[in-house]
Amino acid sequence: MQVQQIQTQPFSGQKPGTSGLRKKVVEFQQPGYLENFVQAIFNSVDGSGQTLVIGGDGRYYNRQAIQIIIRMAVANGFARLLIGQGGILSTPAASCVIRKYQACGGIVLSASHNPGGPDEDFGIKFNAANGGPAPEKMTEAFYQQTQQLQHYLTVEAEAIDLDQQGSQQLGNTQVEIIDPVADYADLMQSLFDFAAMKSLLSDGSFRICFDAMHAVTGPYASEILQNRLGAPAGSVINAQPLEDFGGGHPDPNLVHAHELVQRMQGEDGLDFGAASDGDGDRNMVLGRDFYINPCDSLAILAANAQSVPAYQQGIAGIARSMPTSRAADRVAKALGVDCYETPTGWKFFGNLLDAGKITLCGEESFGTGSDHVREKDGLWAVLFWLNLLAVKRQPVADIVRGHWQQYGRDYFTRHDYEGLDAEAAQQMMTRLRDRLSTLSGQAVADLQIEAADDFAYRDPVDGSESQAQGIRIYFEDGSRIVYRLSGTGTEGATLRVYLDSYQNDPGLLEQDPQQALATLISAADQIAGIKSSTGREQPDVIT
Ligand code: G1P
Ligand code: ZN
Repeated sequence: MQVQQIQTQPFSGQKPGTSGLRKKVVEFQQPGYLENFVQAIFNSVDGSGQTLVIGGDGRYYNRQAIQIIIRMAVANGFARLLIGQGGILSTPAASCVIRKYQACGGIVLSASHNPGGPDEDFGIKFNAANGGPAPEKMTEAFYQQTQQLQHYLTVEAEAIDLDQQGSQQLGNTQVEIIDPVADYADLMQSLFDFAAMKSLLSDGSFRICFDAMHAVTGPYASEILQNRLGAPAGSVINAQPLEDFGGGHPDPNLVHAHELVQRMQGEDGLDFGAASDGDGDRNMVLGRDFYINPCDSLAILAANAQSVPAYQQGIAGIARSMPTSRAADRVAKALGVDCYETPTGWKFFGNLLDAGKITLCGEESFGTGSDHVREKDGLWAVLFWLNLLAVKRQPVADIVRGHWQQYGRDYFTRHDYEGLDAEAAQQMMTRLRDRLSTLSGQAVADLQIEAADDFAYRDPVDGSESQAQGIRIYFEDGSRIVYRLSGTGTEGATLRVYLDSYQNDPGLLEQDPQQALATLISAADQIAGIKSSTGREQPDVIT
């Protein structure tokens, strides 16, 4: 098979962010654009004799991109390709498959929770041999390559039938189309008490709904919840992955998962509900008329980990992203294990997991995970909750309230201002950074500022440093405001303001978070001048 060298030119702006390279589909469709980035990966990761995993969330352009990548992987000398049938692999399933088959890495095609379709977003990311997102050193190497490339390598070959499982030889490469669900489902079965969960789900009195949002988790949830755990057919809704996610926004929050939210309401509301995002790494979990904040979810899973087979021996430690509330810290303290505070983005958990310093980790942005893979894992979190419910036989709301009674409650909210003028948003952050040293001791909206800094992280495993990861304002009553700009948006800038405050008065644990945090919310505007700098009266999204 003849390897072809095709001339290409470096494309500007191919710098992968925290979750790989995300752009509009039309950008990826420019001749040589995807090829340029893929060759940059292949120039940095030697494929000879190696296995590469390939799959995506099923969005528009997934199949075309996979055909391009197959031909290039063959030309670049990979020994074996493992490709999810139909081009499907959820992000956590890709992580699972990379680890299980000792691949040198995997290419996952997804723009996560961003909408899909010809006019929407596409994305590509590389996961390393440990199954986790490429570390910064690697993404920096990819970027350097994209700036220098003169040509890419490919072969001329017929398109591979992605819908037939099986193996074929293409040049010197073995191309295998694999069941995208089986390995992942087996891993879940090895972690959780499927017998107990089956008895909870199969008698019909405990009713659940999983909303796959026409994204990648449909086949996974159907196999695990319905086929293996006996939940009645129809428990998984919007189960078929569609190229445009049915026109929806595959982001598991109260606004976008409205069909699910409706089913949870009122006397006849379901007992447990959950949703995941485009590529299956995020989770939202709900009880009847009850929303579980992801920060609380991490803390509650940690507090109860020993009732799940995989974590029966106890957990080594917990990590949370900096803006995530400190609810998990309280549990770590009670358990006598370490709690790590990392910058936003899953990749910072990888070293801690690989070094065995932590077992569980999570972010406020609906991401929770453990050492079973190296990605956050939506369905894993759902199964963890179901396992707890099968053991405790209590309503979801009672479990969460019981946790607050024991540990106190960390009220938390995140306010997002989207599509801002990028320069104005940067300027606001710069002005705030410049004033940081003058803030401590100041009084704002009845609150007293105790300290202010710009979060910097030193990785305890490899010593690498990450600066300017978000501005933190601490108040004397223990509450906190964090400001940072999103690293994943594709249009303009997104300002995220995170607010949290601790309450342990047993009579004050049932407030609406927006009310409980009202003073802090107004302090956030007064300190940073959000309204005046952005011209926005209200955040676009409140979670
Ligand atoms: C967002 C979330 C972050 C998450 C990332 C990838 O990043 O805030 O927690 O790791 O998506 O799913 P951001 O847009 O804030 O940079
Ligand atoms: Zn995602």
